[in-house]
Amino acid sequence: MKTSVILTTLSCSLLIGLLSSCSGTKQESTTMEKSLYGKTAEGTEVFLYTLRNKHGMEARITNYGGTVVSLLVPDRDGKLADVVLGFDSLASYIADSPYFGSIIGRYGNRIGKGNFDLNGVKYTLAINNGANHLHGGLKGFDKVAWIVDERESKAGKVLVLNYLSKDGEEEYPGSLSVKVVYSMTDSNELKIEYSATTDKPTVVNLTHHSYFNLAGAGNGNILDHELFIDADRFTPVDPGLIPTGELKSVRGTPLDFITPTLIGARINDVYDQVKVGGGYDHNWVLNKPANVLGIAARAYEKTSGRVMEVLTTEPGLQFYSGNFLNGTHVGKGGRKYDHRYGFCLETQHFPDSPNKPQFPTTVLNPGQTLTSTTVYRFSVK
Ligand code: BGC
Repeated sequence: MKTSVILTTLSCSLLIGLLSSCSGTKQESTTMEKSLYGKTAEGTEVFLYTLRNKHGMEARITNYGGTVVSLLVPDRDGKLADVVLGFDSLASYIADSPYFGSIIGRYGNRIGKGNFDLNGVKYTLAINNGANHLHGGLKGFDKVAWIVDERESKAGKVLVLNYLSKDGEEEYPGSLSVKVVYSMTDSNELKIEYSATTDKPTVVNLTHHSYFNLAGAGNGNILDHELFIDADRFTPVDPGLIPTGELKSVRGTPLDFITPTLIGARINDVYDQVKVGGGYDHNWVLNKPANVLGIAARAYEKTSGRVMEVLTTEPGLQFYSGNFLNGTHVGKGGRKYDHRYGFCLETQHFPDSPNKPQFPTTVLNPGQTLTSTTVYRFSVK
């Protein structure tokens, strides 16, 4: 049975909102609707929250994994298409998802051999990707039911998700209290704000893992998207995709996206780094100042005219060209997702930072609050 509630409150009080004088806060027209999505294996009910703005842009997000299940975005004629890969049912997300649309934590991307030292103590994490630890382990933040703060969500027409990752969960130290806020603006932006606190020193790297195809999910591969990444350097990787520790110039390599270039133009070049990644699967060192919300990347798909800009406060960006997709995942509407049918732009701290003291730190101490913001902004040209 579908429970359906329309949450149509304004970000201050209703009255003040109607008078449009909400202490300088811009009033967005976004509405949010809630419906039952299904149950986890443990029997916990999870919900689907639909955020919609005045242009018809629509995001459906479930509190299971904080997953963006669909994202409808207009093309240059105003026609909407779903630009993220995903499944038709919760059961498929639970059964086997390559992190489609989810929040990733406690540590996004890889930690070499699943080991790190923190304040003289050695931690050993699950090995779930070759010889390494990936995306938080066996049951990362993509596989848990987040708690929705209904009161806060209602007040701001935003989706507020909380998760308490207990001390020792997936062998990470410290109870980590994480909050992720999804919102949508009338400027066709999907905004994600992360914050976290801990009761013991720990390592954290949170990101979002949507696979995009601006021509529409399931509509072929993403090789004809033009991509710009505002980064002069990247972190080269070893055969297990662990950074070597070096920051290398992108100049003269297929990883140079300072000049907007089609993803497919150099993806099969004879260059060790694209060979090792099976295409693009690297962390770019963003040019913008750290901790300041600035442009990281821009993707453009010419048949639809859709443009997606990624802005972030993070220092790095993982551009993953969907190299491990191979048609085994049958997605929305029964469409198979073949090789490189989607690409991810994951804003982050660098992979394996706990073992690379020269990288920006991912250590979070008690008394500190991690904050991070990423915006996916859509337009047309
Ligand atoms: C990683 C890939 C991985 C993918 C999904 C990306 O963030 O960089 O190597 O295959 O996530 O599993």
